[in-house]
Amino acid sequence: MIQNVKLDFKHSKLTEKDFMQYAEEVAEAHDELHKKSKDKKEPLGWIDLPTKYDKKELEKLKKAAKKIQSDSEVLLVIGIGGSYLGARAVIEALTHTFYNYLPKEQRKTPQILYVGNNLSPNYINDIIDLIGNRDLSINVISKSGTTTEPAIAFRIFRELLENKYGLKEAKKRIYVTTDKKDGALKQIADQEDYTTFVIPSNIGGRYSVLTPVGLLPIATAGIDIDKLLEGARFAEEKYLDKNLKYNDCYKYAVIRNMLYKNQKGVEILVSYEPKLHYIIEWWKQLFGESEGKGGKGIYPTGAEFTTDLHSLGQYIQEGRRFLFETTINIKESATDIKINQDEDNLDELNYLTNKGLDEINKKAMEGVIKAHEDGDVPNLIITMDKLNEYNLGHLIYFFELACAMSGTLLGVNPFNQPGVEKYKSNMFELLGKPQKIKESSKKESRTKKENKSTKEDKTKKESKSSKEKEINKENKVKEEKVKATKRKTSKGKHAE
Ligand code: PA5
Repeated sequence: MIQNVKLDFKHSKLTEKDFMQYAEEVAEAHDELHKKSKDKKEPLGWIDLPTKYDKKELEKLKKAAKKIQSDSEVLLVIGIGGSYLGARAVIEALTHTFYNYLPKEQRKTPQILYVGNNLSPNYINDIIDLIGNRDLSINVISKSGTTTEPAIAFRIFRELLENKYGLKEAKKRIYVTTDKKDGALKQIADQEDYTTFVIPSNIGGRYSVLTPVGLLPIATAGIDIDKLLEGARFAEEKYLDKNLKYNDCYKYAVIRNMLYKNQKGVEILVSYEPKLHYIIEWWKQLFGESEGKGGKGIYPTGAEFTTDLHSLGQYIQEGRRFLFETTINIKESATDIKINQDEDNLDELNYLTNKGLDEINKKAMEGVIKAHEDGDVPNLIITMDKLNEYNLGHLIYFFELACAMSGTLLGVNPFNQPGVEKYKSNMFELLGKPQKIKESSKKESRTKKENKSTKEDKTKKESKSSKEKEINKENKVKEEKVKATKRKTSKGKHAE
């Protein structure tokens, strides 16, 4: 079988014999996850999503992406957490490192900018400056439809769009990705008749990158989403094998649990490729929100090497011994640079002559893994042969399934995030948010908005209806005249 994403545990200080003790528990957890996934009420819709995705929705999404590419220089993605990180992770991994900085002729597809993932006025004002007068579309993404950060950003940018294009054209530039029926965003979308994409109710935010949540921005950036899904589909089928001996995804879940029990409470996801920065961010959310509860869980963090070897490197090598690392290794770099001979050799780099920079990067990785292993930082290595759509789809599914298995083995619910609510209730209290908006005042403001948004239409309708009234009046007068003439004629006939 093709091994385009594989796990190497040689440097983890654990052997196959150690982790095979978990084989039975893993097989049971596997059966339980798959059994539960058949129940639409369970948050396991992502498990067979690569084979069972909504084909119609995908076609609609591709059309929307084409439209955005044809009429917009910028796509503004509004969302936070699971409604943001996956799209950014895939886009940044698979496009030019400086995609957004490239001249548009070279980039070819719209700049993708992200808001609604913080509450900084500077950030929003700077994005407004950056967009300037350029053509813009918005994709607002929120499963609950009530998250404060994206809701505020949407209010700001919807107004900006309406002022720029007028209400009618603005409507055509707003794409909403949300729940099928619930939430304030769904209400707004219905009321304003925005193009809407559905987040399946049985797929939670951090497991939703392969739904329209991630796919619309990803497709707009010109990435082949069919290939991404194909890679995920391959992984879905591959990891149906519940035998731990042959399942790298479950091995990863088991080994991290064993290391955790061995006092290794912090996992660093390491990459030597800056394009993977947001893959690390996405992974941090996936594992952090899924496992960190009930006083348990590995703390997931990230590092970019070799950059962070010059900041965190010292701590990792010699600080408190509660760390382990998972390194993502991309076997074949898409491009390379050869080191040339220099006559003077003042920098003493001639020993590298004719070597590719990728080889040097790989040697750095090997050196680091050895040093950290010697320094009691166990290392797991996940190797992808190339960084492309197919392999990234595979890697995404690998991590999602590993996370569900790992959380299950840890004894937590990997699909909820009760702790996220705590800061929200404090913030709402500090801001004086009303407990519940009365249905009547909601209706009132909706009516006001409708009145405002349909002002032009109303004026047209009013003048149309006053014309209609005039015509009706004329017709009535005519009718009366005809009736009167008829009456006269019949009177005349009677007189005769
Ligand atoms: O994984 C999750 O469920 C969360 O991180 C959510 O994605 C995040 O809080 C945003 O929520 P929503 O999509 O409802 O706006």
